Amino acid sequence: MIKRVEVSAPSKLMLFGEHAVVYGRPCIVTAVDHRMRVMVEVTDGNNLELYAPDVDIIGYIERISNLGRREAPKGTRFVSIAVRNFFKSFGIKSGLKVETKSDFSSEFGFGSSSAVTVGVIKALSEVFGKPLDNKKIFSLSYKTILDVQGIGSGFDVAAAIWGGTIYFITGGKKVEPLPVGELPLVVGYTGIKADTPTLVRQVADFYKKNKKQVEKIFDSIEDIVNEGKKSLLSRDYKKLGKLMDQNQKLLDKLGVSSPELENLISATKKVGAYGGKLSGAGGGDCMIALVPSIKRESLKVEIEKAGGKVIRAKTNSEGVRVEK
Ligand code: PMV
Repeated sequence: MIKRVEVSAPSKLMLFGEHAVVYGRPCIVTAVDHRMRVMVEVTDGNNLELYAPDVDIIGYIERISNLGRREAPKGTRFVSIAVRNFFKSFGIKSGLKVETKSDFSSEFGFGSSSAVTVGVIKALSEVFGKPLDNKKIFSLSYKTILDVQGIGSGFDVAAAIWGGTIYFITGGKKVEPLPVGELPLVVGYTGIKADTPTLVRQVADFYKKNKKQVEKIFDSIEDIVNEGKKSLLSRDYKKLGKLMDQNQKLLDKLGVSSPELENLISATKKVGAYGGKLSGAGGGDCMIALVPSIKRESLKVEIEKAGGKVIRAKTNSEGVRVEK
């Protein structure tokens, strides 16, 4: 048995369909080259020892049999529950040392929790010699996300596993890799950290009170996602941009846009972006704009002038992989 393995998993950006995907609709997500690295080492004894300096966890120790049983520091939860779920599934008893390190800030909403969860499950499958196909990694990782935060479509988990650009339906009912290349996207961070579960609950409240109206919005978003898939496959960026604008309007109607997001999105219009929208839960975090390559640099300047921070992000990146 190997004793130590290092894997890495990509982060993600939602292209179309956020929120509606929580309600059984499709979305399109792309994996981004900011990777989460997860090192797992089998140790003697029966403790989990965790180092996750990006979230201020240095040398957290817990008995494996206690994982998930009592209140634990926030930064430990996805790793702890992923280990618990994997050990339970395969009846494994062992000590473990886990180290995580991301090459991106967890602030930007790029999906550090899904990438870390997928990374831990993949690393454990390697180190304990339990080969898992992507679907199995998905079900264990998605269960972990639901155990920790109670909510979520799993789109980010799929992006971390399969990589590339994916047409995805809630809970992994459909995971369809789309053969597209890297997209000419620019990403702007508003500087405001948004809490995804809070925004998902906010939409749930709105849904409860305005079911008919919100179903209509979700139906329109579904049409946009399906059109978006076609435009992506034919690389019709003008059309894609228009669809992004339409998706943004509907997200605003759902109440998840914000003045900061709108401000950055309209700044990108000044220099001729094809279109733009928030990406993810909204309320802050990031916006994306699709832009002709000759306008790319001036668009970045506009975003910074409008108070945003441009974040380098290469789309359509490789899914989870063993590094060493
Ligand atoms: O905030 P993010 O980037 O994790 O995206 C959330 C997307 C939602 O559709 C709002 C939730 C989900 O799990 O699909």
